[in-house]
Amino acid sequence: MCGVVGYIGKSYCRDYIIQGLSRLEYRGYDSSGIACIEPKDKKLVFLKSEGRLQNLIEKFNDFPINGFAGIGHTRWSTHGIVSQQNAHPQFDCQKTISIVHNGIIENHNDLRLKLESAGHIFNSTTDTEVIAHFLEDLLVLHKALMPALISLIKCLEGAYAFACLLQDFSDQIIVVRKRSPLCIGVGQDEMFIASDLLAFSGRTNKVLFLPDESFAIITKDLIQLFDFNGNALPIDIKEVITDSTLSQMGAYESYMLKEIYEQKSVINKCVTSFKASNIWDNLGVTPEFIKNLDTINLIACGTSWHAAKIAQFFFEKICLIPTRVFLASEFRYMPFFPETKSLYLAISQSGETADTLEALALVKSMGCASAVITNVASSSMVRQADGFLLTHAGPEIAVASTKSFTAQLTALYWLCNKMALEKSIITQKEMIASEEDLRLAAEILENCIENYKIKIITDLAIKYASYKHFIFLGRHISYPFALEAALKLKEISYIFSQCYAAGELKHGPIALIDSQTPVILFSCFDSVIYQKLVSNAQEVKSRNGHLIVFAFEGQTELIKLADTVFVIPQINPLLAPIAMTGLMQFFVYQIAKVLGRPIDRPRNLAKSVTVE
Ligand code: F6R
Repeated sequence: MCGVVGYIGKSYCRDYIIQGLSRLEYRGYDSSGIACIEPKDKKLVFLKSEGRLQNLIEKFNDFPINGFAGIGHTRWSTHGIVSQQNAHPQFDCQKTISIVHNGIIENHNDLRLKLESAGHIFNSTTDTEVIAHFLEDLLVLHKALMPALISLIKCLEGAYAFACLLQDFSDQIIVVRKRSPLCIGVGQDEMFIASDLLAFSGRTNKVLFLPDESFAIITKDLIQLFDFNGNALPIDIKEVITDSTLSQMGAYESYMLKEIYEQKSVINKCVTSFKASNIWDNLGVTPEFIKNLDTINLIACGTSWHAAKIAQFFFEKICLIPTRVFLASEFRYMPFFPETKSLYLAISQSGETADTLEALALVKSMGCASAVITNVASSSMVRQADGFLLTHAGPEIAVASTKSFTAQLTALYWLCNKMALEKSIITQKEMIASEEDLRLAAEILENCIENYKIKIITDLAIKYASYKHFIFLGRHISYPFALEAALKLKEISYIFSQCYAAGELKHGPIALIDSQTPVILFSCFDSVIYQKLVSNAQEVKSRNGHLIVFAFEGQTELIKLADTVFVIPQINPLLAPIAMTGLMQFFVYQIAKVLGRPIDRPRNLAKSVTVE
C-alpha cells in the first residue's frame, strides 16, 4: 500500500507531487510528506504531516518548499503508529538521504540493530528508515552511488518499491522495485515517478513499468535501468491511454455515490466490449483447452473473492464445470496439486493485491494456465498472467468497491456463458440471451435505487444508523452476496456486521437474535431455496428479531414477515446479485452518511492492498 510519487525536470515539482498524492490517496491516507532539493542552495528540505493530504497542503502556507526534483508519499501504516515521525520521507542521520517507500522490508529489525550498534540514531519506528541509514553507511564504504545501491538492494528482503532523493546527487532520483509496482512517466525534459500511472495521467502517456527486481537512476531526460546485479536493462517505454477526467467526482457528493450510479453503464460497456473481444486469445488459451476444461480455480481477496464465490454458481450451473474458490492469502500456503486441465483465474480490481499476485506467481511457477480478470490494464497481474479480461469499470476511487464488483460479476457471467457456448452446452441464441439478461440486470440495478431512494434517505437510513450490530443472512447464491453486503456496511459505517449462511442460523448464531440486532436477509429467486429462506425468516421473527428483507416480486410470504422490505423485479436467478447490488450499496451508503463517516476514505483502509 502507500503511494509513492516523484518528479524531476524543467518545472517545479510541488504541483505534480500534490496532485499525484491526491490521486494515490486510495493507497493509504494516514499521513503524507514531501522532500525536494531547494533550487538556490541545493539543500534537501522536507515537510510532513499526520492525517489527510490537506493537512500537508495547509503547511505549505508557512513552509513553501519547492524544487526541480522531489519525492512524495501518502502512507498506510504497517510499521509504527500514525505520526509525523513515522510519515515518509524517512532520512539518514545527516538528513541528506530521503526515502519514500511502499511495501515491507522484512529484515528491517536485523538491519536496524546493526545500524544502531554502529551509532545510527533512528527517529521513527518504520522499516523504511533503515534504507536511508544503511545507504548512508554504504556510500561511505563504497564512495560511489552505483556499488552502494547494489549492496543496499541485495540486503533488503521483502516486497517493496521506493524512491530516493539525495542531497549529494541532486539531479537524480533513484527508484527501486521488488514485487511492489512502480512506473516512470516520460515527459519532455521531465520524468514523473509513481506507484500507479493514475498519478501522472494527463501529463504524459509514455510509461516505463519498472521490471520486477530492477532499479533506475533517473535524471530529467534520461533513465538508466539495471537489474539487481547492476547489469543494464533495455528501456521499454509503452504508450498508454489514460484519462484523468474519468476520476473526477463531477456533481456527486462522493466518489462512492458516483461509482454506485455508474454501474448500469459499466455493465453495458463490459458486455459491448466483451462481445467485440477475441476472448480466448486475450485469456491466453485455445478453444480446445476450454473444450477440455475439467475444473476452474478462482483466486481473489475481499470483494473480488465474493464475486468469485457468486461466480462459482455460474460456472457450475451453466458450464457444468466443478469450480473452487480460494482466498489468495490462504491458497498460497496450502498444498498445491497442479491441474493441467484447469484454468486458474485471479480476480482483482486493482491487479496489484499482493496475495493474489503471489498466488498467480505460484500458479505460473507450477506451469498451470493462469489468467486475471482485472480493471487495470497496466497492472502487475496483467503482466504476470498468461492472459487477462479487462472489466472496463473505469478508475474506482472510493476505497470500498462498488462498480468493480458488478463489473467482475458481469465479466464472470459472460465468460461462463462463452465457455458453455464453446463447449456446445448452450447455443448462440442462448449466448445472446445471456447478454440481454446482463443488460436487464443493469436496468433493474439502477431502477431499484430510484424506487427506494427517497424512502431510504428520509426514513430508513436515519432509523438504522442508530443500531450497533447487524446480522446478514443469505442462502445459495445470495450467501456470498450477503457477505459482500456485510463487508460494505462495516467498511463504510464501522457498524459491526456479521454474516451467516441462513441455514447455519439455528446452529448457534440464533442466540444473537433480539430486537436490537436487525437481520438483513437476501432472498433468492429460486422456489426451493426461497421456501428455506422463509423458514429462516420465521425463525428470526419468532424470537422477536427485526427483519429487513431484500425480496423478489411475488415472494409474498417473505414480504409479509419483513419489518422493512425492498422488493426487486423478477430476473434470471443467477443475476439476482447484480440486480440487488445498487440498492444494497445505496442503503448502506446512506447509513454511513447519517453517521457522518468519511465514506470515500474509511479509517484504516487502503484501496490497493500491496502488502501481504
Ligand atoms: C472492499 C474492497 C476490498 C478489495 C480487496 C481486493 O470494498 O474493495 O475487499 O476487494 O482488497 O482488492 P482487489 O480486487 O484490487 O484485488
